[in-house]
Amino acid sequence: MKYNFDTIIDRSNNYSSKWDELEVMFGSKDLLPMWVADMDFKSPQPVIDAIVKRAEQGIFGYTSRPDTYHEAIINWFAKRYQWEVKEDWFVYSPGVVPALSFIINTFTKPGDKIIVQPPVYYPFFQVIENNGCQVVTNPLKLLNQQYVMDYEDLEAKLKESQAKLLLLSSPHNPGGRVWHKEELRKLGKICLRHGVLVISDEIHGDLIFKGNKHIPFASITEEFAQNSITCTAPSKTFNLAGLQTSNIIIPNQTLREKFASTMTNFHLKRNNAFGLVALEAAYKYGEEWLEQLIAYLEGNLDYLVEYFAKRIKQIKVIKPEGTYLVWLDCRELGLTTQELNDFMIKEAQVALDSGVWFGQGGQGFMRINIACPRALLEEGIKRIEKAVKLHFK
Ligand SMILES: Cc1ncc(COP(=O)(O)O)c(C=O)c1O
Repeated sequence: MKYNFDTIIDRSNNYSSKWDELEVMFGSKDLLPMWVADMDFKSPQPVIDAIVKRAEQGIFGYTSRPDTYHEAIINWFAKRYQWEVKEDWFVYSPGVVPALSFIINTFTKPGDKIIVQPPVYYPFFQVIENNGCQVVTNPLKLLNQQYVMDYEDLEAKLKESQAKLLLLSSPHNPGGRVWHKEELRKLGKICLRHGVLVISDEIHGDLIFKGNKHIPFASITEEFAQNSITCTAPSKTFNLAGLQTSNIIIPNQTLREKFASTMTNFHLKRNNAFGLVALEAAYKYGEEWLEQLIAYLEGNLDYLVEYFAKRIKQIKVIKPEGTYLVWLDCRELGLTTQELNDFMIKEAQVALDSGVWFGQGGQGFMRINIACPRALLEEGIKRIEKAVKLHFK
């Protein structure tokens, strides 16, 4: 089946945070939304069919996970990452961010330190602070337009902070890095040496551009598997975030039992009825769609990279190796944070994620979401070009 990602879908009755919350978030309704990470594409047809079929049953009582649910996930990881996960390693969570918060709640006490690698997905800061813990930063370094980890700084920060956890964004949002095995190995060894548990958020792991390979952190060595928790979900891959279904993979039995007991305490054991069938259909029958989606996103990325290089030279694109989020280096515009935000909202009329939301190193940057039909992407980029030309005559 050939999917058409060019179709523009009206999301006005879609109850979408990306489209409906523009005024609350940016102070104006008249913006092209290119911010929060969901896609303006329909999910794969088998997923839609599975949800419709389930809806037609008309009974939406408490759910139970069938064996086929776990089989679908296990087969997906085996096929795509050669990672053999076992059925009893899974703990269900209604989302990855909730899982991160529950993990922190389970494995730390207030005041404990947690390492993050900014600029990074901003809810990382929120879940740490909301649980009364302290953020310790191990900033990424931008070398030749690409982010790399600073291992010396990490080693020093772990020594001085006695941090309990490290939140890893893999692939990295917003830098777009698909970490190489060797990079993860170095990180994992340092964490093992300092007794720091690695929480690997791999929600973007399926969205990888040609020439790159996502390596699940826990698949590298048995020691890493025992010293990590991997957060996975079909929500970015298949545009299912509103179905609130994620799977937390914990090979270490002691860690798993502790985390599972937190989820039980909060009565968060059962899947949403639609998320359950959508996940299974996506992992079983969604691969063909995903391959076409990635090719389309790659086309969008090439278009964006070329357009900025030729026509908006003041803004540099940090070319991602994965994810559908692109980090734009706007520092050459010479604007303050407030001015840059105002410029994108009031002059370009696009809603982007402000770089400062992502913490240290985010100032002067903006994140654009390219998971939309090409025509919308063109419109957004042209708006930016026009504003740059007018403003910086
Ligand atoms: C790195 C990362 N983790 C988690 C999430 C959200 O996860 P969930 O919707 O399952 O809470 C996102 C969404 O953008 C993300 O980029």
